[in-house]
Parts: sequence; structure tokens; C-alpha cells
Amino acid sequence: MKWRALVFVLATTAFCLGFGDGVRDQSLREAARASGMLIGTAVRPAQLSEAAYASTLAREFNMLEPEDVLKWETVHPEPQTFDFSQGDEIVDFATGHGMKIRGHTLVWHQQNPKWLTEGKYTSSELAQILEKHIKTVVGHYRGKIFAWDVVNEAFDEVRPGRLRSTIWRDQPGIGLAGNEVASSHEPRASSAPARSELEARSSQQSYSYIERCYRWVHEADPQALLFYNEAGAEVVNPKSDAIYAMVRDFRQRGVPIDGVGFQMHIENLRADVASISANIKRFTALGVQVQITEMDVALPVDPNGNPRPEDLQQQADIYREVANACLSHPGCTAIQTWGFTDKYSWIGSHSKHTQGAALLFDRSYAAKPAYAALRDVLTTGRR
Ligand code: XIL
Repeated sequence: MKWRALVFVLATTAFCLGFGDGVRDQSLREAARASGMLIGTAVRPAQLSEAAYASTLAREFNMLEPEDVLKWETVHPEPQTFDFSQGDEIVDFATGHGMKIRGHTLVWHQQNPKWLTEGKYTSSELAQILEKHIKTVVGHYRGKIFAWDVVNEAFDEVRPGRLRSTIWRDQPGIGLAGNEVASSHEPRASSAPARSELEARSSQQSYSYIERCYRWVHEADPQALLFYNEAGAEVVNPKSDAIYAMVRDFRQRGVPIDGVGFQMHIENLRADVASISANIKRFTALGVQVQITEMDVALPVDPNGNPRPEDLQQQADIYREVANACLSHPGCTAIQTWGFTDKYSWIGSHSKHTQGAALLFDRSYAAKPAYAALRDVLTTGRR
């Protein structure tokens, strides 16, 4: 029957053009080719055996990052034990699909094993432990992981612009105490340095522990790009001001740092894109790359985890505007989402299941309006 054949041809043509499943002919990674952007996502190895997860990941992204399995509690579960099995699974997947790999993260105050946090180490013991950790993990992935989030979230949430008090900084820290004692015993009187010099010195001392970490990573893999990664510093604010001062100082003194990662976890459907853009501009002007490292846009959800349909478009607009802000600065080199399917996202447990649906694909791997918005920008956005 002729009409049946016609319907079949029309239907398959429509499907191939992508009208059937909401995904058009180009994937994100294909769209990103023209602009040279890296388009990445956080990955959980347990899900790689799920066909839809693996095929979507390989089709859509040219970069990935282990969401949790390179954190201390997984990769260094006992003082003398390193476990790279889950990290290696992700790295093998990426290598097999021609994807770049970001490493996350070497120095953080969360997801650390008890042997470390409850170990009552002295400052110098802790420094040795951290140096060994960094050199072992970075060494294992040398030549495979192209960029590391060396230090994550070192600046404080509540005291604007100040460093967070952590096991690495001052409990006992890996060297701060030594520095402070040394400077407080310095002779003052006639040879006293100028006030501005003292201020500069004291702020350098306060993040000297961070500097040591960058130097250790660089020794372990001189080719790797070294990032500082932070939450809540996407816009121009006291936290990003403090990071800016640190990065500028590192660049001036030759401390190896190549980039800054802005996490971009967006809540309440609010994003000050003008300020995000101004912030990207000032950081890239320092000669470092900026990457958006953990983007998600959380929506309020009902007890079944479903968002309001009208919020999906607003969510898409935020993805579009943030991606545009990145693409309009040549030094902004990557957009990475924190997972890609609403089936697996940290937002649910993080928000006690009041928010969710934060990613580009729904729980059945169907592309959402945010997906189309992001792909449009990657296809047509300025570079
Ligand atoms: C989150 C993971 O997504 C969760 O699976 C885990 O339980 C907690 O950590 N900032 C970061 C990420 O830098 O490492 C965090 O990831 C989310 C916030």
C-alpha cells in the first residue's frame, strides 16, 4: 500500500532529523567541535554498565570527570592503601571514547577517610601524608588526566574572603603554624617592613599551604593543567575577590596555576549572568583559563520528583545565558555539568528531595529544553 510506505518514509525522516526524540542531528560534542569548547559531565562508574547511560555519555560529551571516586575516602581508604579501580574504569571509558579527563579533587575538607580526619597528626606528618597522596594519585594518572582540581573550596562560606578552617589549613594544617611562628619572631624595630608589604606577606602566608599543593602536583605531572575549584564564587563577590587576589599573586610569583573552576550549582532559578561574565573576564585577563566545572540548575520538585513544566524553560534560559557568558570569553574553555541525567544527581539528597531535575536529560534520558538551549549556544555562540 502506497500511503503506508509514504508514512514510513516521513516518519523515519522525521526521526533522523531528530523530531522523534527531541534530539536533533547534532550531539553536544559535535556542536562543540566548531567552537573548540570542552563539554563535560561528572560520572559515576557504577552506572557505566547501564546501556542508556553509557551511550548518552559517549555521544554527547567530549570530557568527563569522576564525580566521587578520586576523592580521598575512595582512592586512599587506608593509610597505606590506594584504590584506583573505580577511577581506572572511568579513565578507560573516556580513553575508549576519545574524551578528555578532569581530575577531582586532591585537597578538600569533605569526603576524607576517618584515618585521616581522626588521626591526630602533627603538621609535618600531615604534610608528608598529603605530599605522598598527591604524588601517588597524580603520578598514577600522569599523561591521562589533563587537568586537576588541585584544591577545592578552600575559601569560607560565612566569613567573606577568608580561608576556611580545615584539616589542611589549621587543624593542624600543613605548614601555616610554622610560617606564623617564624614571622612573629622576626626582628621588628628599625628594619621593620612597610605596612603594605606586611599585609601582602601575611595574606601569602595564609594560603601558603595551597601553594605547596600546586607545587607538589606540578612535580608529579608537569604537563597537567592545575585548577583552583570553588563554589559560590561564580559572580563578583568577596569570595571571588579573595580567589582573584590569590591567583594573581600565584601568577606573579610563578606558582604553577593554570585555571579556575567555577562550580555553578544554581538554585532558585536565579543567576546574575552579567556578574558571572564580568568575573570570567577578570580571571581570564590574569592569563588563566576559566572552566565551568559542576553546573546544574535545581528546580523545585513534587514528592514524585517532577518539576513544574513552566520551570523547564526558565532552566533552559539559565543554561543558555551561562553558556553564552562562557563562550564570549576566549579563555573560558569548558562547560561541564554535574551529571547529565536527572536519574542520577546529587541535588536530590543534597536538598532533602525538595529539588531536582537539574540536568540536561530527564530520568528516561530524553533531552530537556536545557539540552537544546545549550546545543544552540555551542553551535552558534561567539568565541
Ligand atoms: C558531591 C557528589 O555529587 C555527591 O555524590 C557526594 O555525595 C558529595 O559530593 N562540590 C564539589 C563536588 O566539588 O565534589 C560535590 O560532589 C558537590 C559540591
